[in-house]
Amino acid sequence: MIRLLVNFLEFVINHFYQNRWYPRFYVLETVARVPYFSYISVLHLYESLGCWRKADWLKVHFAESWNELHHLLIMESLGGDRYWIDRFIAHHAALVYYWVIVLLYLIRPKSAYYFAELVERHAYKTYDTFLKEHGDELKAKIAPQIAVNYYRDGDLYMFDEFQTSRLPTERRPIIKTLRDVFVAIRDDEAEHIKTMTACQEPNAQFVLTSPHSKVIQSAIALPSRKLN
Ligand SMILES: [Fe+2]
Ligand SMILES: [Fe+2]
Repeated sequence: MIRLLVNFLEFVINHFYQNRWYPRFYVLETVARVPYFSYISVLHLYESLGCWRKADWLKVHFAESWNELHHLLIMESLGGDRYWIDRFIAHHAALVYYWVIVLLYLIRPKSAYYFAELVERHAYKTYDTFLKEHGDELKAKIAPQIAVNYYRDGDLYMFDEFQTSRLPTERRPIIKTLRDVFVAIRDDEAEHIKTMTACQEPNAQFVLTSPHSKVIQSAIALPSRKLN
């Protein structure tokens, strides 16, 4: 059912946008942030009610939304939000999507993560196709400043935080041309797929932690191991 719905949405976007790549990415990135907002809202509700405490998951989902925000800012810097119709479609789709995922996350968290996994897979495929078709022309253009700041020159704490299968500082994209930026965005989508898949594992709530927490945990464990 979820797969059918995502396939239908994919079909609509493919036919409506076709080769209008930047508006298409703008819509995709506006919508891509939304599941993370929904998860954070519901997790905050559970914390407020004293049901459970999942500080690491809140952190990771916020870092994921922060990553998608930067994809969105990059698309805006490339003119993807120029026309009101694209902004109208993106914001209305995001509003509906937000509430659908909130309800789904309350009833079946696994399905809510599966939904996002499929959307992330679609994003990865779309960027990969774009790179294969337009890679050479992207090489001739310089990277937008917002991408340089996010991936290279700024504080990379949040960039490391959403990549739950890696340790901090493990991945450092080289950002010079616009092609490098799209490669980094595509590879970010692959990291989102990994995290969304990991969130569906039966023991996820015990295993999935923030990459920075992993470092702290291993630093604490190290002296006691030495003593043994
Ligand atoms: Fe994205
Ligand atoms: Fe994504």
